[in-house]
Amino acid sequence: MTTSAFSSRISGFHKQGFQDRVETLASYIQLTDDEQVHLRNTGNLPAEMADRLIENAVGTMNIPIGIATNMRIDGVDRLIPMATEESSVVAAVCNAARQCYDHGGFITSMSGSSMIAQIQLTGVSNPAFARQQILERRDEVAALCNSTDPVLLKMGGGFQDLEVRLLDTPTGSMVIAHLIVDTRDAMGANAVNSMAEKLAPMIASWTEGKTNLRILSNLADRRLARARCIWRTQDIGGPEVRDAMVSAYHFANCDPYRAATHNKGIMNGISAVVLATGNDTRAVEAGAHAYAARKGHYGSLTHWEVNADGDLCGSIELPMAVGLVGGATKLHPTAKIALKILQVQTASDLARTIAAVGLAQNFSAMKALATTGIQKGHMALHAQNIAMMAGAVGDEIDRVARTLVAQAAVRLDVAEAELQKLRSA
Ligand code: MEV
Repeated sequence: MTTSAFSSRISGFHKQGFQDRVETLASYIQLTDDEQVHLRNTGNLPAEMADRLIENAVGTMNIPIGIATNMRIDGVDRLIPMATEESSVVAAVCNAARQCYDHGGFITSMSGSSMIAQIQLTGVSNPAFARQQILERRDEVAALCNSTDPVLLKMGGGFQDLEVRLLDTPTGSMVIAHLIVDTRDAMGANAVNSMAEKLAPMIASWTEGKTNLRILSNLADRRLARARCIWRTQDIGGPEVRDAMVSAYHFANCDPYRAATHNKGIMNGISAVVLATGNDTRAVEAGAHAYAARKGHYGSLTHWEVNADGDLCGSIELPMAVGLVGGATKLHPTAKIALKILQVQTASDLARTIAAVGLAQNFSAMKALATTGIQKGHMALHAQNIAMMAGAVGDEIDRVARTLVAQAAVRLDVAEAELQKLRSA
């Protein structure tokens, strides 16, 4: 065993205020004055708010927000704020949206706004019997759920349904109760988790079971956002491009190695809007990937086909647990502005818009991959990052980036050499 003088145990760290905590951290790992000043500059999220949002806050992480243009969704033009550190993500959405704009853009729909909370009962020797014992008390369950969150009820949401599933596991049979709750414009995690915690002891008492977990499922398959769009073959470069894109889709749908990357590209767009609006990126990502594997095979979140006119039809369907009320969405000043830019009135508007962004992102990735490859477009933007890493500032950034692209050598060493040349010229 190795020993080290450094200790990660900082007594009372969580009790300190933001500013003191930065000082404590600095003394532990010798942060320079500049580094401390940097951490203390929390930009447009006040330090006090950062400190309330999470524990042990010592800074914020700024990510650029770009606006995707050209998006027309259900006949309405929308500007889309996207928070991402990755070059090409915003441009990809703009390009895809431009190529379908004249043909009407995206059509969207939503399956509902219900979330699922799970209650796990273990040690049930008669699970089939217990299942019925629980289902018989549906009205009681509904009343208890609704009394836990009367505001939700007032907003037209609340208890929708009760399901009970039986699982055979290595530690024995389990009875899993699902509370299905319409959470309207809230993402709903807090609402359904509270209901599950309140109901669990009662549900257990109706059976021989013992309560274990009580938590929402991120496989929010009662809250599916859908988007579809037609790209005319003449607008996307002809039948060869179209067919290569359909082939790329079939590759993804049949091969989990490719599907992971294909879906990652979709999530580039989706997570960027989810983050910009202060929603929970991990919840949406978990739901998306679980949904992509729901048939026992991990496949594409999108579908691509050619219609009778020979045009390319894209569609996407995935769980989209996002809200407009509660959490960072309502608190974070940038999230509030992002929602204003989007001009969405309901969580459903937001969810459907995000689905359209995912589809647009996938269109552009597949088109680039099936034609010129992604490096050409990606490298032009990436070259700017490399130029900045080499120390370029102001108009040096573009000048260095251009030479890197021209030499097809987007590398830090080349950027450093080019910057030196530029400065000594
Ligand atoms: C890169 O972040 C995303 C892509 O790899 C997506 C894809 O391969 O479809 C370009």
